[in-house]
Amino acid sequence: MRLSLAFASFLFFSSAIASPVQVGEAVTSDKRSETVSSAVYNDLVFYFKYASSSYDIFSPSCPRPNGNTLVSTISNLITDTQGFIARDDNRKEIVVVFRGSTSPTDFLTDAALLLVPFISPGVNAPSGTLVHAGFLLAWDSVASSVISTVSSQLAAHPDYTIVTSGHSLGGALSSLAGISLKQNFPNSKLRMYTYGQPRTGNKAYATFVNTQIGVNNLFRGVHTFDGVPTIIPPILGYVHHATEYWSTIDPTSALTTRQCNASGEDLTCSDAIISTGINPPHLVYYNILASTPFCS
Ligand SMILES: *[C@@H]1O[C@H](CO)[C@@H](O)[C@H](O)[C@H]1NC(C)=O
Repeated sequence: MRLSLAFASFLFFSSAIASPVQVGEAVTSDKRSETVSSAVYNDLVFYFKYASSSYDIFSPSCPRPNGNTLVSTISNLITDTQGFIARDDNRKEIVVVFRGSTSPTDFLTDAALLLVPFISPGVNAPSGTLVHAGFLLAWDSVASSVISTVSSQLAAHPDYTIVTSGHSLGGALSSLAGISLKQNFPNSKLRMYTYGQPRTGNKAYATFVNTQIGVNNLFRGVHTFDGVPTIIPPILGYVHHATEYWSTIDPTSALTTRQCNASGEDLTCSDAIISTGINPPHLVYYNILASTPFCS
């Protein structure tokens, strides 16, 4: 059933998507159809490699994430929230990375669809800012320890940029961690990367993230017809924040990746495809199978 739906969606997708010639025409007529620069694309790939490395269940302490220094691991056994914090002394970055769903507990977290007030250490969200109860429980279970580690890293490296990353459930946690860290360290630069991120909060949350972090510092990668970004529907009150970077055709490259508009819900991007849930494109980003480790 799921496979046939995925296939039907793929057929729909194939016919709806512009052929290379049409893409060329669209570029000249519509700025939003522009493909990304290789610098933007290479960064999407680079931060995905961190997210992918966080699935390494056989060596959870990925010793050299993306070749960089492992500062500490993130772990809460009750909510089964895992990840790590790395430091890149070349790029001058402190990178906070979250693992996606691998365990039954993670799927329960995903299923807690209720929207609740965004109450989290150091966060002053406008009233009416609501987020997914399960994702918030998971982030809040590690927030204090992540904030304290980032704080001591920033004390030693005050000019470093904070970067968050994660795939799937890890993408939702990257989102919550990103805005929380921006609130806790407002004077630091911050960029947020997410891949196959499900909708995480309501419209007030999307606006809060877009305005506090800035749409140019938000990178929400979506691979072709990955069904997870659209699995939690807007009818439940959820809205995506900016900025979707939609990779339209395999193999993924800068030429097949579009920057979508700053609304977060650009109907000409992956929103246009009916969700088929967790499907094959969810598991592969930038031609890399999620869970491939980049740890040396
Ligand atoms: C983004 O695109 C959608 C259509 O896909 C449109 O309704 C919306 O107004 C656009 N928003 C911005 C900020 O450009």
